[in-house]
Amino acid sequence: MSSALENLLQENRSFPPDPAFVRAANAQPGIHEQAEEDWKGYWLDQAVNRLSWFEAPQQTLDDTNAPFYRWFTDGVINLSYNCLDRHLDSSAEKVAYHWIGEPGETRTLTYRDLYREVCRFANALRSLGLKKGDTAALYMGMVPELPVAMLACARIGVIHSAVFGGFSAEALIDRINDAESTVVITQDFAWRAGKEVPLKANTDNAVARTPSVKNVIVLRRTGSEVAMTEGRDIWWDELVADQSDECEPERLMAEDPLYILYTSGTTGKPKGIVHTQGGYLTQVATSHSQVFDHKPDEDIYWCAADIGWVTGHSYIVYGPLTNRATSIIYEGAPNFPDFDRLWKIIEDYKVTILYTAPTAIRSFMKWGEEYPGRHDLSSLRLLGSVGEPINPEAWMWYQRVIGGERCPVVDTWWQTETGAIMISPLPGITSTKPGSATRPLPGLSADVVDETGASVPLGGGGFLVIDRPWPAMARTIHGDPDRFVETYWSRFPGRYFPGDGAKRDEDGYFWLLGRVDDIMLVSGHNISTTEVESALVSHPAVAEAAVVGRKDDLTGQAIAAFVTLRGQVEGDETLLRELREHVGSTIGPIAKPKSIVFTNDLPKTRSGKIMRRLLRDISENRQLGDVTTLANEAVVEEIAEMAASTSSEE
Ligand code: WT7
Repeated sequence: MSSALENLLQENRSFPPDPAFVRAANAQPGIHEQAEEDWKGYWLDQAVNRLSWFEAPQQTLDDTNAPFYRWFTDGVINLSYNCLDRHLDSSAEKVAYHWIGEPGETRTLTYRDLYREVCRFANALRSLGLKKGDTAALYMGMVPELPVAMLACARIGVIHSAVFGGFSAEALIDRINDAESTVVITQDFAWRAGKEVPLKANTDNAVARTPSVKNVIVLRRTGSEVAMTEGRDIWWDELVADQSDECEPERLMAEDPLYILYTSGTTGKPKGIVHTQGGYLTQVATSHSQVFDHKPDEDIYWCAADIGWVTGHSYIVYGPLTNRATSIIYEGAPNFPDFDRLWKIIEDYKVTILYTAPTAIRSFMKWGEEYPGRHDLSSLRLLGSVGEPINPEAWMWYQRVIGGERCPVVDTWWQTETGAIMISPLPGITSTKPGSATRPLPGLSADVVDETGASVPLGGGGFLVIDRPWPAMARTIHGDPDRFVETYWSRFPGRYFPGDGAKRDEDGYFWLLGRVDDIMLVSGHNISTTEVESALVSHPAVAEAAVVGRKDDLTGQAIAAFVTLRGQVEGDETLLRELREHVGSTIGPIAKPKSIVFTNDLPKTRSGKIMRRLLRDISENRQLGDVTTLANEAVVEEIAEMAASTSSEE
């Protein structure tokens, strides 16, 4: 980006919080201002009041070695104790997880059940010689044993490194080798859309090239046959069979590492993001309570992300369990056996809080209202979104069709690196605007700056920066502290640069505009992908859109759009012209796509983000770049063919 980012999309809809919701909300008006008076003190209060410490911290922030900040350095804590032991007196029989297997079986784990499973597995890990500071790779599907394994690691000070179960053996190799994991915890197969995913076989392929691994622990999930290597591989059930139900939690320092989680960004070798104990849990527990307005004795909470991503780490495992939540874990695909699976689960379990991603919401829009329409969703009282900018029209659809126009929608901006939610409405305080993550949470601060680092006045766009440290922040990139400084702290020295573009409106609300690498430069104007995509999605025929800037002799870059239509709509020349006009009239002629291609799907990462980089390659007739994180490989070929035949130029 060479100059300021255009502010094209104007959104005038606003939804003030419902007075009844406000009265009962966990976070009350004034909290932002109170926290701001003494933000370090605010975070120390959250740490001491929300968590149980063996030794409560006296120190807040240590900034002597910035940007390697440290929080609550003298505190002594155990996260599995916070998630389990301390709830046993009051809530041993309370359900921690309702688990629903893809084929239809269910399991219920109370806090006592979970405590017992975690202690037994922690003892089992110790019996294999694992100790504080070692690293365990977790390569599993959405089974209760995944949180069990994470908490067992946390209990004994072993660092966990979860690798999403949708990744290949190749990705697993890199991640095991980088973290030098000594054990891999996996399962025979995982269920996904009615098919068995061979996690153990993938692990075998990986472990042939990972010298650090001594043992592989294998959970029986589907029961289909797998090869076991004598002396190396051990069945989970056999390993825990003789273990004690009690396991003394390790006393850990607040700054001891908790986990490594790899994030690939758009390009390059995956970065092993390191999170630590005390600061991480403080912010995750605080945000889980405030943003979702979570009430432990009333809510049935469902974060429908995968536990293998940071969203699952923070908001399926550590945050909810610290806050004594009853959560849903669903194992499989949202369209199995039919497109109404999620809505059926919400009806069956009377789910009150749902947290999902724009990519999922746009799929629901594409599938049509018929599916949610089959079920009673009246138990829902709050909806959340995370992962990408949510197009205002998708926000409105979510609020109307899923939320029955009754539920606040919280659009939460954060990253693997931030560890916890950073910018989000608070449902009892904030008037929401569709498409805006609104403002930083209490105790946090952010700004929008131009390329010189100067704050951009309200109404303008530029680079998002986080301008002071926060408790759940990444501490480093595993094995590469220089890359940590270079990637996040060099562009605007002293401030954290997440890599996203943003604008602020006249009310100071933040609007996330996508990755700055994707920003288009058309006739000297910096145009965000998000705004043009949102303009396309605001047309009633469109479910999802991706735009990229492709080289153009006349304008530098020209906007190329890829559009997926809703339900039964067919794309034709008339619709093409209509969409181009629609963008022109919604946000201005400069943003009209030069070409539009209708496609059934878009290339996405395994976490559901649109991979615009590949669409750029297609648009400029280039060989495709790195496709290792691509989830749906067939789709790029399909799009390339469509682009060659149906693309229309003005
Ligand atoms: C990137 C981080 C945070 C958990 C899931 C993704 C984008 C995330 C939003 C949002 C606009 C968002 C950003 C960010 N992003 N949430 N509410 N609005 N953009 O974690 O894989 O580390 O990705 O996702 O571009 O930088 P991640």
